[in-house]
Amino acid sequence: MEHYHHNIFLIGLMGAGKTTIGRALGRRLHLRFMDSDHEIEERTGVSIRTIFELEGEAGFRARESSTIADLTLRQGIILATGGGAILQEETRHNLRERGIVIYLRARPEDLYKRTKHDRDRPLLQTDDPLGKLRDLLAARKPFYEETAHIVVDTADQGVPRLIANIERELLSFQPSI
Ligand code: S3P
Repeated sequence: MEHYHHNIFLIGLMGAGKTTIGRALGRRLHLRFMDSDHEIEERTGVSIRTIFELEGEAGFRARESSTIADLTLRQGIILATGGGAILQEETRHNLRERGIVIYLRARPEDLYKRTKHDRDRPLLQTDDPLGKLRDLLAARKPFYEETAHIVVDTADQGVPRLIANIERELLSFQPSI
């Protein structure tokens, strides 16, 4: 695929591969890769962890929804969103209306493998991160599913195959936006 004319927004839990897939797919489709967490850190000048410490999850979510409201107005981007972005109604609406939303679906066990050494995700700094990922998936599943135009299973696929699958899905998808 040469140039793709819609924005692409990636959703899914922590460790689903939004950044890795976003960068690779952006190169293939000539879309500029952006990351909502990174943008929030740029705007505030502090880390996500610090925002959680100072303002709690609610403060972070407010920053996240306004940042995504801005970013989704751009053209020609592929955006990796934070795993909990879809908790906010306004964000679900903005994502769904302003681009093609792809849910990178993964099993909690695989997400755990990819995030277990990470100290920068406040929600996973618990005694039982796998249990936490299971709980988050149960709570968020309906939101991921209602927001997505396309659902892709990431299990047992390397990045190149996953990219090829996503490109095929995008070709057969007829957006009404
Ligand atoms: C969060 C996911 C993180 C980050 C924050 C909260 C979540 O993003 O936004 O730590 O609620 O799932 P990633 O999904 O990029 O790790």
